[in-house]
Amino acid sequence: MVWSQQLISVGLLIILFFQSGVDGGNGYYHTTVDQCRSSSKELSDVEYIRSSWFNKAEYLRFNSTVGNWEGYTAFGVQNAEIYNKDTSIMGQMRAEKDRVCRQNLPIDFEAILSKTGEPEVVLSLAKPSSSGHPAVLMCSAYDFYPKMIKLTWYRDGQEVTGSVISSEELADGDWYYQIHSHLEFTPKAGEKISCMVEHTSLKEPKVIPWDSSMPEPERNKIAIGAAGLVLGVIIALAGFIYYKKKSRTIL
Ligand SMILES: *[C@@H]1O[C@H](CO)[C@@H](O)[C@H](O)[C@H]1NC(C)=O
Repeated sequence: MVWSQQLISVGLLIILFFQSGVDGGNGYYHTTVDQCRSSSKELSDVEYIRSSWFNKAEYLRFNSTVGNWEGYTAFGVQNAEIYNKDTSIMGQMRAEKDRVCRQNLPIDFEAILSKTGEPEVVLSLAKPSSSGHPAVLMCSAYDFYPKMIKLTWYRDGQEVTGSVISSEELADGDWYYQIHSHLEFTPKAGEKISCMVEHTSLKEPKVIPWDSSMPEPERNKIAIGAAGLVLGVIIALAGFIYYKKKSRTIL
């Protein structure tokens, strides 16, 4: 399902782009675009389209599925009639699907669509709960490609839909994306919260459980505090022993 959606979005693949005309404010623009469209990697339904545009109006199109030229303006209709009767042009156009599409699409699939980047998922406490205010958990997915991704929150096995705010997929500018989803919740003892990430790069969804027993920063603070206490006791003990020894020598 993900594949086909991806393919359709890239289905409008412009392989060749011929341009002629005048660029700038008040020139005229003539463009011919070749497209190869396919909704499957097997290329079973490849369609080759060549369209000609004058300024912003498409006036002529060859569609490989129909196998004919079609005109959309008086000039386009006239051209279509001439081309459709020209056996050499028609022979060439009918071969374009194989020549252009069947050769280039596999290369594009290999170079672009087959590349995926697995998301790195981090679950963190964005805001601890404080007197009457709910806590906020943040589920972040980093460095994934392609863009399409799904983040779902679960609370005690139930999907959470309300109190969830999700960002758009943000482009990192290097082909990778990141996304962040926030869950607002009032902590309850013994509850199980998790964030599930689904992405085409993953064989199965990634589920990150939230350890509600004690949030990470709290645990770190306790560890640092304990280390400080031990250090303080050692220094105090050393000082005491030193003081005792010194007072003994004086005595
Ligand atoms: C080409 O022709 C087929 C058959 O009429 C049609 O289904 C398809 O949409 C056409 N493609 C384009 C891009 O117009």
